[in-house]
Amino acid sequence: MSPSTGRKPRLAVLVSGRGSNLQAVLDAIADDRLDAEIVGVFSDRPGAAALERVPLALRWSAEARAFADRAVFDAVLADAVDAVAPDWVFCAGYMRILGHAFVQRFDGRLLNVHPSLLPRYKGLHTHARALEAGDREHGASVHFVVPELDAGTVVAQARIPVLPGDSAEDLAMRLLPEEHRLVVAVLALASAGRLAEHGGQVQLDGQTLFKPLELDSDGILHPGSHS
Ligand code: GRF
Repeated sequence: MSPSTGRKPRLAVLVSGRGSNLQAVLDAIADDRLDAEIVGVFSDRPGAAALERVPLALRWSAEARAFADRAVFDAVLADAVDAVAPDWVFCAGYMRILGHAFVQRFDGRLLNVHPSLLPRYKGLHTHARALEAGDREHGASVHFVVPELDAGTVVAQARIPVLPGDSAEDLAMRLLPEEHRLVVAVLALASAGRLAEHGGQVQLDGQTLFKPLELDSDGILHPGSHS
């Protein structure tokens, strides 16, 4: 239960693809590791496999390409999301940039997971880019969403080593379970009313976070030590 409202925190999830992050959230709720309720799953791709992970009544989709422009699609999506009265909106593999109006409307309660150690490798092909750069470490970030792609303030990160001989696929496969744990851990903080964002600063329990939290091997978040 949310301490302030006395009801389960309401999560809306935006998806475009297979939905393994959505599944991690569903599993955490089912196992009582996350005290929240998914009140809607929204997709810009009606064929997204992610949608099939929830009952029909929770699914909303529209083919983004059929709309005149991004602003029109965003407005329709925003109305649909608003209609389920979410406390938090979580982008779990949502592959379209959300415009200014959408971001403003859900300001302070809009989170995204991205498969890199932001600010490194915004955008696509993050695993291959980490390998090309010779990085010894790779990871995933959960951040508040701003209109600029993958540029919002980072809440928390999970790190994995890059091993000799790793391919981009190897990295993606090893990172994914960490990404899932990271997502669940951050949504647990959000759902418990412990996370907020004001003016580009993340607050945890009312204190400004100057560095992203870091996930340990038990799936627990700790104060960050990296810049
Ligand atoms: C994840 O790696 C996410 O970080 C990225 O796209 C992938 C989506 O995976 N933005 P899934 O749809 O949650 O399985």
